Amino acid sequence: MILKPMVRNNICLNAHPEGCARETLRQIEYVKARAEAYSRLEGPKAVLVIGCSTGYGLASRIASAFGFRAPTVGVSFERSPSDTKTGTPGWYDNRAFDEATAAAGLSAISLDGDAFSKDMKARVIRAARDLGVKFDLVVYSLASPVRPDPETGELYKSVIKPLGGAYRGRNVDVFTGELSFAEVQPASEAEAAHTVKVMGGEDWELWINALREAGALAAGAKTVAYSYIGPELSWPIYRDGTIGAAKAHLEGSAKRLTASAPDGLSAYVSINKALVTRASAVIPVIPLYVSILFKVMKERGIHEDCVAQMDRLFRERLYLGASVRQAVPVDAEGRIRIDELEMGASVQAEVNSRLARISSDNLGELADLEGFRSDFLAIHGFGIEGVDYEAEVASR
Ligand SMILES: NC(=O)c1ccc[n+]([C@@H]2O[C@H](COP(=O)([O-])OP(=O)(O)OC[C@H]3O[C@@H](n4cnc5c(N)ncnc54)[C@H](O)[C@@H]3O)[C@@H](O)[C@H]2O)c1
Repeated sequence: MILKPMVRNNICLNAHPEGCARETLRQIEYVKARAEAYSRLEGPKAVLVIGCSTGYGLASRIASAFGFRAPTVGVSFERSPSDTKTGTPGWYDNRAFDEATAAAGLSAISLDGDAFSKDMKARVIRAARDLGVKFDLVVYSLASPVRPDPETGELYKSVIKPLGGAYRGRNVDVFTGELSFAEVQPASEAEAAHTVKVMGGEDWELWINALREAGALAAGAKTVAYSYIGPELSWPIYRDGTIGAAKAHLEGSAKRLTASAPDGLSAYVSINKALVTRASAVIPVIPLYVSILFKVMKERGIHEDCVAQMDRLFRERLYLGASVRQAVPVDAEGRIRIDELEMGASVQAEVNSRLARISSDNLGELADLEGFRSDFLAIHGFGIEGVDYEAEVASR
């Protein structure tokens, strides 16, 4: 088949196998180019990445494997290709990662299935035994719309909604450039509770406890889960909304995990920068904010993509010295901050000033819609340099 992006309602329905592979290899090359800097640090010896196939999880796995040469086990939930339909981007990203680690002589096991299930936890524990490792770093990087309860089978669904009152904010359709106002009604109590069940820290705690009970967690291990704070204008729908409540629960989990660790485990939440992901084009306000943010950060030469963020997280926060025990720098609330360039006062002031002035006449000048679109297509393997998009490709 010949593959062109199939974008419907700001969701891309297909993926290009070679484009996804090349984009994964680009991230691997980014980390390999910093091998010398990694070699001066003591890093993790065996890493589990839950949510390993795309976004921050994939970049974390790449930093672990190609930066620190650690064996990795990765868990993700992706759709495999059929004769008529491509797989999801993460399916091809995993394959590219597996091929690259095999070629580099690095141990890696990638498991596909539901991370929330007891079965997946058992499969990971078996994988650790097969590799003969105990994990000394567990990265929790899931972004999921649903979670089946592992005990009852009840399906929890997460929503991105405000709490208390409706939210009205500026929005842009990144594909048409059309500006609009989006109004989102507040979540019900049940929706709020379900979102915490899906995106909060309950499953993270279950993972750590299951690994510990099975003897698959090393003494003095670290574990990190990812979160976002973002600008004040997004707080009603993000930080003070349903997702924010789930992320507050995640921060509580980090404290509980560290406090109750008999084996010296340290659990962290890392606040990362806003990125374009498969879901971000459909979250109200975020596309407009991110497009302006990218323009401002690119103009100032401080823009970072996913792998640049995770490379810094691994070398300048989690492992920053000759001993893995070197203290991890955190803010007053105990969180790792790798979003400091995005959240800098001058960047935020400039973004806010542009948001106040934005109109269809100056959109191209004040915001980087093209950058948003190209990042969005790139995570689906489209628009990647060197790929012949007129050529026939097999979906598998
Ligand atoms: N994207 C951002 O701008 C941003 C910013 C800061 C923090 N974060 C946080 O980083 C984390 C990862 O987000 P991302 O943007 O990298 O997401 P992503 O969609 O790129 O990746 C999500 C991963 O979770 C996996 N997954 C989803 N459901 C699963 C399931 N049931 N079982 C197994 N695997 C499953 C997917 O296969 C994929 O590997 C999230 O907690 C998110 O809130 C994201």
